[in-house]
Amino acid sequence: MRSRRDPVSSGVVREGPACQVAVTLVSCACQRRGEIRLVTSGLSRHDRFVPYVLETARLTLRPLTVSDVDNLLELDADPEVMRYLSAGPGPTRHEIRDEVLPWMRGYDEREPGYGFWAAEATLEGDFLGWFELRPLPDREPGEAELGYRLRRSAWGKGYATEGAAALVWAGFTEFGVRRVLGETMTINARSRRVLEKIGLRFVRTFHESWHQPVEGAEHGDVQYALTGEEWASSHGPRPELRVWAT
Ligand SMILES: CC(C)(COP(=O)(O)OP(=O)(O)OC[C@H]1O[C@@H](n2cnc3c(N)ncnc32)[C@H](O)[C@@H]1OP(=O)(O)O)[C@@H](O)C(=O)NCCC(=O)NCCS
Repeated sequence: MRSRRDPVSSGVVREGPACQVAVTLVSCACQRRGEIRLVTSGLSRHDRFVPYVLETARLTLRPLTVSDVDNLLELDADPEVMRYLSAGPGPTRHEIRDEVLPWMRGYDEREPGYGFWAAEATLEGDFLGWFELRPLPDREPGEAELGYRLRRSAWGKGYATEGAAALVWAGFTEFGVRRVLGETMTINARSRRVLEKIGLRFVRTFHESWHQPVEGAEHGDVQYALTGEEWASSHGPRPELRVWAT
């Protein structure tokens, strides 16, 4: 969620350029009685490893496109959004266009089935921010990190909880994730609450050295986690799933 090694936190790209992906799958999710219900059909094992769109009751999570440069620029320019993420100025338009966005878009190609999704309010079509579900280099196989960053105007409406729950669902049911992890600053109460609301459990507090520590870094970071078994036992039978190509 807040890796010190990646360009969404540091503005420094350390991985190669993105590749375009030819096929898009659409995955439609409905929220019923507080649970995500996904419906799929005609999905081959190979098809799972392409970008897809995931719809919840109010959100559309879609692959990022080259047109999202200004969306990301505006998001990262808000000091309140970046308060628990990085100190100093956000990335420039040039950095987002040439480094950050290609790196984010390329993730699905490097790590099939994972990556970053732009979040839109389905009815209004507004860009709200992004979600991520991706393995990190130092994680065990089957472990994926969950993250989210939303515009301030979207906070407090349950969007982060709704989108994150959908990604956890997709990770466990579609992409072979065995354990979802979430990490945030100890003092980032909103983010911690989202992790707790979607069922992740507190694991540990830890301290890492930061190049440019943000205020409150002395309190360290917290890690939360949820295994597929824990998730399944708390969500009952596997929901129905339908995915189709566009
Ligand atoms: C973290 C973030 C994604 C949360 O988004 P959101 O859409 O407001 O989250 P939700 O509305 O789904 O849930 C927020 C929860 O936090 C609670 N909350 C809000 N402010 C809080 C505070 N100061 N202390 C404790 N809880 C708080 C809300 O009441 C809500 O819980 P509830 O439903 O039990 O009432 C959003 O604030 C954000 O993008 N922040 C900047 C980027 C960031 O910090 N990302 C995480 C990096 S690790």
